[in-house]
Amino acid sequence: MSNLKEILINKKICKSVWFMRQAGRYLPEFKKIRSQNQNFINLCLNSELSSEITLQPIKRFNLDSAIIFSDILMVPYALNQKVEFLKNHGPKLENFNLNNFLKNNDIDFIEKLKPVYKAIEITRKKLDKEKSLISFIGAPWTLLIYMFGAKLNKKEIDLKIINKKKNEIVLVLEKLINYLCLHIDNQIKAGADVVQIFDSWAGLIPQEDLNSFCYVPNFKIVEFCKKKGIPVICFPRGIGENYEDFNNLVKPDGINIDYNVDPKWAKQNLKGTVIQGGLDPKILLLSDEEIYNNVRKYLDAFKGLPYVFNLGHGMLPETNPEKVDKLIKFYRDY
Ligand code: CP3
Repeated sequence: MSNLKEILINKKICKSVWFMRQAGRYLPEFKKIRSQNQNFINLCLNSELSSEITLQPIKRFNLDSAIIFSDILMVPYALNQKVEFLKNHGPKLENFNLNNFLKNNDIDFIEKLKPVYKAIEITRKKLDKEKSLISFIGAPWTLLIYMFGAKLNKKEIDLKIINKKKNEIVLVLEKLINYLCLHIDNQIKAGADVVQIFDSWAGLIPQEDLNSFCYVPNFKIVEFCKKKGIPVICFPRGIGENYEDFNNLVKPDGINIDYNVDPKWAKQNLKGTVIQGGLDPKILLLSDEEIYNNVRKYLDAFKGLPYVFNLGHGMLPETNPEKVDKLIKFYRDY
């Protein structure tokens, strides 16, 4: 069993490190492939290349787990909403149309995602048996934010859209839960052995809607993973002290804290659940000493507890891979 699963399932106290967005973005070997593949969706649909990119950070750093190279927006793509990734602009989705959305069906959805499952199969064969292969999804709310084009900027969503369309939101979230469970099921069948749910925009949900837009959808998907016997890690980014309610209601195997969550607070208030991550990815842009001082804060806080080393959000594109190497060595020697 991989050390990640030993920690998540058996609450074993041992070391395990991987990073959100470890594959892609900052590695020169990724940038080379990316420059030759301008269409990002097509790159995700290229099973051989996707597998190769997944394994790049494993080869370079000998990380304990691989996360499949894909994107949370492959789901709207498979639900026939056009997705484009514009240079220096992020993702751009075609306008949402409820009737078109409701016309989707399970068989066509899976058909469109087959290359992702193939990439998982190829990767599983090449990956050391002692390492986990992590599959992932975007949580329904986070996907909906992109599908509805509801994001104004990094910190705000258009509440007018949200308030005007409450009934539609609940319907779409419910449908998304089914598709996402189907996507998880197929990723497991292809060889993934851990699931991570990214609710990157949970922090933008109005307090009164947290239950129906965040806790309930995450809970249903976590229950599905538990039924399948596969460990699941949730990442409800940006919800502050609501992490406690989230944890008590959703009860995932692991919970990734973001960099605004104080590790000591997390230790006190997220009892019973394995904590993962926390370190601000911006710290990796600082000096070695500053990196080590910040890493110590997490390792000291979670000493004697099962803890998975990771970041408090994705690796930044400007990260120097040498710093990542030093960080891993420091963690393993500590
Ligand atoms: O961890 C990994 O590297 C595995 C692959 C992975 C990608 N996206 C590849 C990617 C994972 C796990 C994701 C998750 C993802 N995608 C999230 C949740 C995590 C988070 O960061 O909050 C979100 C919100 C997305 C949506 C998305 N995809 C955005 C906003 C963007 C544009 C800018 C960026 O990089 O964040 C993407 C594109 C994307 N997905 C890239 C990569 C490597 C960059 C593509 C490029 O080279 O232009």
